[in-house]
Amino acid sequence: MPSQGRRGSALVAAVVALAVCLSSVLNFEAAEAKAYSVGGAKGWTYGNYVRWPKGKNFRAGDTLVFKYDAEQYDVVVVTQAQYRTCNAPPNATAYHTGNDRIKLVKGHHFFMCNIFPGHCKAGMRIAVKAM
Ligand SMILES: *[C@@H]1O[C@H](CO)[C@@H](O)[C@H](O)[C@H]1NC(C)=O
Repeated sequence: MPSQGRRGSALVAAVVALAVCLSSVLNFEAAEAKAYSVGGAKGWTYGNYVRWPKGKNFRAGDTLVFKYDAEQYDVVVVTQAQYRTCNAPPNATAYHTGNDRIKLVKGHHFFMCNIFPGHCKAGMRIAVKAM
């Protein structure tokens, strides 16, 4: 019995060591790259997103997650000029799964909803800068 107890505590120690190891790996990854759910809990929906990126420090490698009703919304990659005027060209890259993950590279990124006219004008667009 005592030897079983020792084996038991050795196992517990091993599990704890593994857990500490895993959590430091996860923490490290969290510090390296973050996933941002655009719009927070409400996701990507009709509304004004101009202020959403404010105060967030986006970095290259971070991911923007757009969660939305794919029958009503989409996510289109645009240029700054297209973002400003809400005019996406027909050949712009578009996402429409309802759960799109877009990895940021360093620089400016502009996205807008283009499925119905008016969504972008109402503010359903974001501009983010990744460092
Ligand atoms: C769309 O087509 C225009 C004109 O050919 C081109 O300049 C532009 O780079 C294209 N945009 C994309 C996102 O492919």
